[in-house]
Amino acid sequence: MTIGFIFDLDGVLTDTAEYHFRSWKRLAEELNIPFTREDNDALRGIDRRRSLELLLNGRSYPEAQMQALMERKNNYYLAYLDEISPDDLLPGVQDFLLEAKHAGIKLGVASASKNARRVCEQLQIQDLFDVLGDGYSVVNPKPAPDLFIWVAGGMRLNPRQCIVFEDAAAGIDAALTGGFWTVGLGPAARVGHAHRVLPSLASAKVSDFAIPLT
Ligand code: BG6
Ligand code: MG
Repeated sequence: MTIGFIFDLDGVLTDTAEYHFRSWKRLAEELNIPFTREDNDALRGIDRRRSLELLLNGRSYPEAQMQALMERKNNYYLAYLDEISPDDLLPGVQDFLLEAKHAGIKLGVASASKNARRVCEQLQIQDLFDVLGDGYSVVNPKPAPDLFIWVAGGMRLNPRQCIVFEDAAAGIDAALTGGFWTVGLGPAARVGHAHRVLPSLASAKVSDFAIPLT
């Protein structure tokens, strides 16, 4: 049976969370809004607009200003992306992707980020993927299942033929709602509702993952 692996990007294939944090932190300081690392953890997997709304914590601004704030944060983030190289793949990721590719498994990315294509290019992994879904692909962001369904459809697979690898609670929720098999990467407190939980892909082997995933 043809199967597919669908990967979230930030926190699964590479760790851009620190760059998102520094960029949001700088914006928050400029606005005199308190913002901690813990606050940032709650933004994992959340799209740019909703992240800004959470950071603003009930403060409201006219739409034009919201757009300007998102653009300002993104410009801070883009400056960090210049530094990303294949060395920034998380441990074990390169081997896992290559092993899966050689086993004939279809590979997809499903990232909330509008910068996902650029990050994959700088990591030099973009050619490994059959489908790359990013922050432009669907209207409804995670925890809606739309992005995972969009990627699976692009691979000509249905959700029950795919395993989703995610580090965010919102991403696991999205994949479960869509009917996918799920692997949560990180602490059980965050991704414990996945079918299986691993600390990371560091020592994962493709043969560990058969469908149905139990
Ligand atoms: C997700 C990150 O992958 O992408 C979030 O986990 C981020 O932290 C979101 O806010 C949107 O990213 P971008 O690059 O479109 O602002
Ligand atoms: Mg993530």
